[in-house]
Amino acid sequence: MSTDGFEPRIIGFLCRWCSYNGADLAGTSRMKYPPNMVPIKTNCSGRVDPTHIMKALSEGADGVLIAGCHPGDCHYINGNYRTAGRYPMTELLLEQLGLEPGRVRLEWISAAEGDKFAKTVTEFTEQIRALGPLGWNTMLDAEEAKSA
Ligand code: FES
Repeated sequence: MSTDGFEPRIIGFLCRWCSYNGADLAGTSRMKYPPNMVPIKTNCSGRVDPTHIMKALSEGADGVLIAGCHPGDCHYINGNYRTAGRYPMTELLLEQLGLEPGRVRLEWISAAEGDKFAKTVTEFTEQIRALGPLGWNTMLDAEEAKSA
């Protein structure tokens, strides 16, 4: 598959209390970061489960970022601890499905960390660019066409 002119498509599940506000701060502070990530506001990082990640990847995302409050700061007490506990299992599941490591990333970003948000999106976009397109959506479409 040619990767000429490849622009990564990244879905970012951002907790509304911390990371989404960190993204806002990056924007209002005019920090520079690539426009490749589409943010999706979630109530808590603990609300993001493996099916959300797989849906994003199967519908055309090349990478998925999950960002939530720092440990101890979750507005639902332990949602981010659940996220942290579930994350290794999610990585393993995605590996079993043939996904290269590095296409999914978990970060803790507070509302005051616009700089960390911008840095994370910049690094992650470059990482996904280096991995190239995932193409799960086109593979699934081809499979569906074959079986029709
Ligand atoms: Fe932000 Fe739970 S409310 S991670």
